[in-house]
Formats: sequence, structure tokens, C-alpha cells
Amino acid sequence: MNNAMEGFMVHGGECIQGTARVEGAKNAVLPILAASILTEEEVVIRDCPALRDVQAMISMLKMLGCQCEMREGGLSIRSSALHNWEMPDEISKEIRSSIFLLGPILGRLRKATVTYPGGCEIGLRPIDLHLKGLRALGVNIRDRQGILLCDGGNMHAGDVYLDYPSVGATENVMMAAALLPGTTCIHNAAREPEIEDLECFINAMGGRVRGAGTQLIVIEGVKKLHGTCFTPMPDRIVAGTLLCAAAITGGEVTLENVRPRDLIAVEAKLAEMGCRLYDEKDRVHLKARETLQAFSSLQTQPHPGFPTDMQAQMMAVCAAARGTGVIVENVFENRFGHVSDLNRMGACIRVNGRVAVVQGVEKLRGCRVCARDLRGGAALVLAGLAAEGETLVENIRLIDRGYASLEKTLCRMGARMERITLS
Ligand code: EPZ
Repeated sequence: MNNAMEGFMVHGGECIQGTARVEGAKNAVLPILAASILTEEEVVIRDCPALRDVQAMISMLKMLGCQCEMREGGLSIRSSALHNWEMPDEISKEIRSSIFLLGPILGRLRKATVTYPGGCEIGLRPIDLHLKGLRALGVNIRDRQGILLCDGGNMHAGDVYLDYPSVGATENVMMAAALLPGTTCIHNAAREPEIEDLECFINAMGGRVRGAGTQLIVIEGVKKLHGTCFTPMPDRIVAGTLLCAAAITGGEVTLENVRPRDLIAVEAKLAEMGCRLYDEKDRVHLKARETLQAFSSLQTQPHPGFPTDMQAQMMAVCAAARGTGVIVENVFENRFGHVSDLNRMGACIRVNGRVAVVQGVEKLRGCRVCARDLRGGAALVLAGLAAEGETLVENIRLIDRGYASLEKTLCRMGARMERITLS
């Protein structure tokens, strides 16, 4: 990945239509890559998306002593030479997903040193629930000026109660407990589909996990895990983003390699706005109306509620619809970074704390905007597709974190946009 400042130049007014295949899910692949170090044998991950965050996780695995290489069958990881339990400082700070390695390193080596991962654009991103869960398994964690020294010498199976159904904390405890003799129960566990995928992956390695997708996950520790070849679930947020691209431009799309059950909340909201959707086994079809009607309200919640990762994209669709919609962001404390740029494009959005009131406008106007976080950046691209004139979206390295060549995908579906290098 080059680091020159790049942007998307989006020429508005084209309908998004046609067919696209959705790749493996970033938020499933990241914990699965981390969990791959729980076995010394080779793990192959098929359909691994080419994303900045995935590249970063691969770099971290290599720093720990793992061998990672792309092969025709997918990404091969061998961690027989895993020796380093210390997560390099600069990596922990820069790449938030490094925190997903804490559980597996403890599970495999019984000790770990990580730096508190920094916050990011959408919030402080504390890890108190991760640490509380690991402490409940007997991990001794000392904080030495921001460096976490974790001693798992006395780790044991047991009951973990999460005060909030944190996705990452649930995943870290699952991975830490997979090789722990005895039964570990995670109460008030997160229920996201990516957690079910992690359960499938650990069980494919010979683990014994059950209950993912419900509030109670039970892990029977096993002595050893073996290698496997695994295809992660498709990316429900990329799928939802492409559905929104068709919705905001009055288009019609068919998405392949999706699981309709992962898109129920998003499809319901788009249908409420006037889109016609229907599902097949692993495909979703959407036909938008010329002008959409704003949804009355949208509340982000832990799964199966409306996904916070789709809030920004739905706000863009609502900004170009008729009527007024109210959005409440209940999951992250700072996830309206896209509002100011949408308003510069002519949207009419007022924010008060976690509430955004979106009054739809006739037409958005293209202008120069800047991605402030991954999903907010995607929302600005969607707005640019529908806007009159040209929209230059800057800082698109944030978008590359979660979308593989978004411009190529959208151009294949009728968009007129290109990736440009900014001086
Ligand atoms: C995962 O983040 C996803 N990332 C996020 O996707 C997603 O938005 C989020 O889950 C919610 O679905 C990955 O899977 C890599 P959480 P995670 O722990 O695990 C608070 C994207 O755009 N919290 O469920 O960090 C936290 O501050 C990204 O792809 C604590 O207070 O989410 C937040 O307010 C963005 N203490 C809320 O819980 C903790 O110890 C939800 O966080 C942990 C979390």
C-alpha cells in the first residue's frame, strides 16, 4: 500500500446497477487471523480481503514470529515458530486490532505484553471489558505506564460476565479460553455474526465452542488445536454499503456471496425508505425508487439491532431522501464525523449529542470533503455518487482500511470515479 495522500474523484449522477460479489468480512478475518496462532499447524484463510487492516494484522503476526504467505488457495499462516509474546509498541498504538492478539497469545504462551491501543476517530475505544474478562480467567495484568504486562501462569477456565456485550472482549475471551482445561462461560456475550464465524473457525481447528450468536457462549477447553482451511463469512457491511450506493442513486443491484440473515436490519430500513428488496440463498437484490422517503428513526444497537457500522451510510441515503429521519448512535460516542462534510455538500443535518436529525434535500452538491473515519468516508463517497457535479473525497486511506478498491467495485457497477494522487 503506498502512503501518498490519495483521494477519490467522484462524478455524480450515475445510477449504481448490476452485479457484484462481496468478499470476506474484515471484522471476521481480523479475529480469525489472531486465533490462527492457537495452533502450531498451518492455517489457510480463503477469500481474505485485500484491506489495510488485514495487511496490518499480517505484519503483526510476522513480528510475533509467524510465517504468512499468500498462496493460490488463500493466505497461509504457520505459527510453529511463534516465540514473541511482546506486541511491539508502535504496532499496538497504531493498529487497534492488535488487541485481538492478546487472548490468543495468552492462550498459546500464557504471557503477553501489549501497549494500551490508542483511541481512534470514532471514540476512546477503552479495553476495560477485555481486561476484566481475562482477569476472570486468572490472568494477572499489571499496567506499567501504559504497557500491560499479562501473566497467564495461573490461568483457569471460569465464568466471565461482560457488563456490555463488547464484540472484541467476547472474541478475546473465546480465544484465551479455547485451550484452557475446563469449561468457560461468557455471559452477556456479543451476538454479532462475526462471533459465530470465530466459533466456526475455532471448532474447525478442533475446538469445542458453542452458543455464539446468543448471550451465553460456552467454551470447553481442549489440549491441542490442529490446522485447517477456512473461508470467512462475507462482509455484511460492504454488502450494506453497496445496497446504499444503489439506493441513493435510484439504481438496481444484485449482490452475490452474501448471507441475507446478516442484512435483516439494513434491508428493513432500506425497504422502509421505499426500496424493493428480495433475497435468495446467497444473493440479495435491491431496486430503488427514483426518490426515497426518509425512515422515521434509526437506532444503532449491538446485534441483532441496527449495526453502528452502517449508520453513516444510511445517513447519506437519508440526506438525499424526502422527509426527515432521526438517527441515534448508541454504540460509539463520536461517530458523526461525516455530518459536517455532508452539510457542506448541501445536506441539512443537525446534531445534538448522540442524536442527528436528517432533513432530506432535493439535491446534494459535489465539493471537496475529507474522510474522518472508515465508514464516514464511505458515506461521503455515497453522497458524491448522488450529488450534482464532482466530489473529491480526501484521506481515503481510511476507506482502504475496510473496502478493497472501492472505486473499482463501484465503477464496475456504473459509477464514474477514479483514485487520484493529491499533491
Ligand atoms: C468491533 O469493534 C468492530 N471492529 C467495529 O467495526 C464495530 O463497530 C464494533 O465491533 C461494534 O459492532 C472489529 O471487529 C475489528 P465493541 P469493537 O467492543 O470490538 C465500548 C468498523 O467500522 N467498549 O463492541 O471495538 C466501546 O467503546 C469497526 O469495521 C468499552 O467500553 O467494538 C464502544 O462504545 C468500527 N470497553 C462499545 O463498547 C471495552 O473494553 C462497542 O465496542 C470494549 C468496548
